[in-house]
Amino acid sequence: MQIYLVGGAVRDKLLGVEVKDRDFVVVGATVEEMLARGFMQVGRDFPVFLHPETKEEYALARQERKQGRGHRGFSFEFSAATTLEEDLIRRDLTINAIAEDEHGNLIDPYGGIEDLENRVLRHISPAFAEDPLRVLRLMRFWARFFSFGFSIAPETLHICREIVASGEIKELTRERVWNETVRALLTDAPEKYFEGLNAVGALSVILPETSHFNLEAMNNRLTQYKKNSSDAHWRLAIWQWKEDGVFESLKRNLHLPNLFVQAISRFNDSADALQNWRNISAKEKFSVLHKLGSFKKDTAVFEILSLLGIDEKIREQIRAEIQVASEIRANNPEFSQYKGAELGEEIKKAQIAAISAVICKEKI
Ligand code: CTP
Repeated sequence: MQIYLVGGAVRDKLLGVEVKDRDFVVVGATVEEMLARGFMQVGRDFPVFLHPETKEEYALARQERKQGRGHRGFSFEFSAATTLEEDLIRRDLTINAIAEDEHGNLIDPYGGIEDLENRVLRHISPAFAEDPLRVLRLMRFWARFFSFGFSIAPETLHICREIVASGEIKELTRERVWNETVRALLTDAPEKYFEGLNAVGALSVILPETSHFNLEAMNNRLTQYKKNSSDAHWRLAIWQWKEDGVFESLKRNLHLPNLFVQAISRFNDSADALQNWRNISAKEKFSVLHKLGSFKKDTAVFEILSLLGIDEKIREQIRAEIQVASEIRANNPEFSQYKGAELGEEIKKAQIAAISAVICKEKI
């Protein structure tokens, strides 16, 4: 049997970026031989093995045949006679189809090295269309490698448009779409993911309401603010900001995880006020800080301030306002004559007055 390093590890090494996962392909072996060598079989749909010591993934060379619609409509043909070239041709992009043998020799039947040098994302063959997720993967790679100067080959944009027109993007599970989207949000150029999906018509399939959104403004904001946070939830909060209906669309179509729903709700409740802090009333400030849980030691307000790149002077002021308002408690003697709702109202009034006093101090 021959073993080759394949996929992202070879690509990233050639690009000079850190290699995270290493995937291997094994040519000329059977399941039985792998098991006899101590590999552990994992994977439901096709045999992938874990190396007995390194636990890295080794897959038998395979050919795919598409049978039906969607991700599950695949069958795989395994045979010890499947060649490396047959395995590589079923992959998505030329830059992902370079193999390296045990001696460090590169095997590159589909021109991946040249495309890497020329910074081109290009699909290998019509088999690209067999997994519609590849449209999203392509745009994620564009976002990830945009700063290296990559562009997408015209014929690859063309096949993406055909995949979109075939209706197959709709068949993707929300989990797979979400997984690609989160990974794209974490790249250097997350706005390119949305721009790319939009360019091939896929964005309006994933988020059907996008035609009403000002995508250019959304992407510009993401470009402007992404440097302030490397968290996917805050970056998504920026992307949907100021555009009515995007948050609802994300929730409806992507089943946002709770962390994202919470973060975006809080962001929407506070971002405009935080940007305009010098000009809003103490009552409004109270309301924003109360919603963010700032009086209960929740630190979200400071994450949002960093995200918005708001200057240290305002942060100091907000810190002081939270401090004075938090010191006002129900058991302070001044509230001894109040109970229930009335007590709540009195505390709130006192907190607003305290916040107002901080403003006065600022202005002196
Ligand atoms: N692959 C593919 N089509 C997919 C998923 C994966 O052709 N839908 C192939 C590609 O050759 C890819 C390899 O399987 O390089 C490994 O896939 P994966 O680990 O998902 O991606 P990587 O390319 O390693 O990229 P990343 O750094 O994002 O993990």
